[in-house]
Amino acid sequence: MQAQKRCLISREAIARRVAELGTQIARDYGDREDLVVVGVLKGAFIFMADLVRALPFPVVVDFVRLKSYGAGTTSSGEIKITKDVEEILEDRDVLIVEDIVDLGLTLDFLRRHLLAHQPRSLKICALIDKRERRQVEVPLDYTGFTVAKGFLVGYGLDCGENSRTLPEVFILEPEAVGGK
Ligand code: IMP
Ligand code: MG
Repeated sequence: MQAQKRCLISREAIARRVAELGTQIARDYGDREDLVVVGVLKGAFIFMADLVRALPFPVVVDFVRLKSYGAGTTSSGEIKITKDVEEILEDRDVLIVEDIVDLGLTLDFLRRHLLAHQPRSLKICALIDKRERRQVEVPLDYTGFTVAKGFLVGYGLDCGENSRTLPEVFILEPEAVGGK
């Protein structure tokens, strides 16, 4: 089924914001040498690819894969690590890169998990902070865009693996989101 969707964030707006985030992150980490950027698969892969190239210094990249959503737009309520970090994080500066924060459960879980590795610092960069359904407040150090609500796809975000590779961020029209 092809859901109705409307463009919410254009390529130009994304590119501008990613460049700004890059500048901000570069300023904050400028004197540090081995920043480890941990992307949350799969949703963050496009944002992270752009973000690391907006930084004026090289970083080490690593990834985790967390499963919290089923095939649709509703959380399964359960978070599992299906791929863990491979870098040693102890005494290193770590920046988590996530696509979107909704309930907050995923990032809260990942934050605790990575803190157990005793990094020197741990910050979070999220492309989108979706406010309406937040259950757990997580400290977001860098936020691309804030939206109130809605289910978003594109630029890495998917709905049941659909629409992930679109270059803009779209919002699914409410009538197209089953049962909501
Ligand atoms: P939460 O913050 O624990 O609810 O989980 C956030 C995760 O749910 C994100 O990493 C996404 O994978 C997924 N998610 C939440 N809202 C959306 C959305 O609007 N579009 C696509 N994925 C979403
Ligand atoms: Mg995700």
